[in-house]
Amino acid sequence: MTDATHPLCQEWHQKIQTCSDLQALDEIRVHLLGKTGLITTELKTLGQLSPDERKTKGAEINAVRDSLSTLLSEKKEELEKNALELRLQTEALDITLPIRPEKKGNLHLLTQVLGDIQSYFRDLGFQVVEGPEIDDDYHNFDALNIPVHHPARQNHDTFYIKDHPLRLLRTHTSTAQIRTLEVQKPPLRIISIGRVYRSDALDATHTPMFHQLEGLVLEPYTHMGHLKGCLTDFCRHFFGVDDIKSRFRPSFFPFTEPSGELDINCSREDGQLKIGVGNNWMEILGCGMVHPNVLKNCGINPDEYQGFAFGAGVERLTMLKYGLPDIRALYESDERWLNHYGVGSVNL
Ligand code: PHE
Repeated sequence: MTDATHPLCQEWHQKIQTCSDLQALDEIRVHLLGKTGLITTELKTLGQLSPDERKTKGAEINAVRDSLSTLLSEKKEELEKNALELRLQTEALDITLPIRPEKKGNLHLLTQVLGDIQSYFRDLGFQVVEGPEIDDDYHNFDALNIPVHHPARQNHDTFYIKDHPLRLLRTHTSTAQIRTLEVQKPPLRIISIGRVYRSDALDATHTPMFHQLEGLVLEPYTHMGHLKGCLTDFCRHFFGVDDIKSRFRPSFFPFTEPSGELDINCSREDGQLKIGVGNNWMEILGCGMVHPNVLKNCGINPDEYQGFAFGAGVERLTMLKYGLPDIRALYESDERWLNHYGVGSVNL
């Protein structure tokens, strides 16, 4: 008797073929092949037979078992495939549907500016890094060559964390210089954009929280010329004016030597500020060559590497670019303002 004509086969082949769900199929499998299943029980009866009978009966049952288990696994595969198809169909998203008007959201002006700055520097091979907003005295001051009694500390109106005298809200993103150099070896080019905090006034040009853009380039032969070129090109891109003029004015920061402020040209005719035209100057950011002490604090030999750093207020850049007279507008969440300056993410 061949397996297919065995009564067990005939009966169960049909049941398996017509089975339409995975759980029922598994119940059939247990019923036939489980520990106390039909086939297993049949196999157990072999012991009572004569050796000759056992041989033929044994082969017969084994053939039935093989045939049924092949069929079971084929059916299982088929049902699983169908279930997956069904899931894919029901869970599919129709991305061709239009956006629901009530779900319209805009990217805030600052978000647009941050994205623009990041992609500009990324294209130049800069890595974008992030650091903690709650930092410590060491990263915000000491490592940046601002020791405890240095007068520069007084210029930073620092928010200290209650009951943690050495913990503070970072007052500038220059902390990113230290945090990066602690974990990465030069040569490197990084920028970092993030929130900084100063216990300042709240008026048209100050908020206790604002954003800074920090840049650091550390390579064997970096010099002030690279710094000027890098920043002037950035200003040209950012303000969309091809021939912006720039100049350095000497300044002081404990963590750069020499230090400078970068001015760009502008005109203020009829009370209207225009960037990149005219013969007036406007201060735009602070910068300089990284101070050798900062490099030493991070275990870098200043004779091997030298670099430049710069720091700019993102709100200030944004206000200049878009002609905003009051920084507070950026945080007031006035819906009319948001709709005016916001850009839908799909339109970017
Ligand atoms: N950290 C400085 C500030 O907050 C800006 C700066 C950054 C200056 C890097 C020089 C180099 O004013």
